[in-house]
Amino acid sequence: MIIAVDGPAASGKGTISKALAKHYHLPHLDTGLLYRAVAHTVQRLELDPTREADAVAACDFDELTLADPALRDDEIGKLASVVSAHPLVRAALLQRQKRFANQEGGAVLDGRDIGTVIAPAADAKLFVRATPTIRARRRHAELQARGAPTTFDQVLADIRARDQRDSSRSTAPLVPAPDAALLDTSFLSIEASVEKAIALVEARRHKS
Ligand code: DC
Repeated sequence: MIIAVDGPAASGKGTISKALAKHYHLPHLDTGLLYRAVAHTVQRLELDPTREADAVAACDFDELTLADPALRDDEIGKLASVVSAHPLVRAALLQRQKRFANQEGGAVLDGRDIGTVIAPAADAKLFVRATPTIRARRRHAELQARGAPTTFDQVLADIRARDQRDSSRSTAPLVPAPDAALLDTSFLSIEASVEKAIALVEARRHKS
């Protein structure tokens, strides 16, 4: 079974995907990490993220990069959103994600274009969302817990800018697949979100 989970930053898609992978005993790939690895490499090599050729050169990162905790930084997330808009960057990372999705036994993948581009034939597709204010509140609390100096207004502005960039790019924009089940986590606890996600997957997989 292939489960595709898409949605904007801080919607809860990562937590939900991990829980789904555990529930169904499937391997999980957070595809945002691949774009974050590109961003990190761009930063380390002092390349220009807005130049497609520079960003493509950074796609050749090694596997170890994916385990670097620095990839979780908010600054890297922003930069990942910039490099991910280049069609050639997306093309360079495409096969790797498709291979993961189509491995024997299935997989859970989360990102922005899993249901639309990476695994259009997925058995279950979820599009996870929450209001920008609620996502900013979650992200702000997370950053504060890590001791990062930032204000709620700054986090909200960043979230809005990232949504705008991810949704308006011409290649593989952030849009729900037409056959995705929508899951709004704005007023749900983590436990309730996961329960709902499992129920939606169950309903979908029995349909196909
Ligand atoms: O989910 P995240 O915050 O780790 O993703 C970081 C950026 O990577 C996001 O703003 C856009 C990009 N991304 C993408 O374009 N396609 C994906 N499948 C996953 C992430």
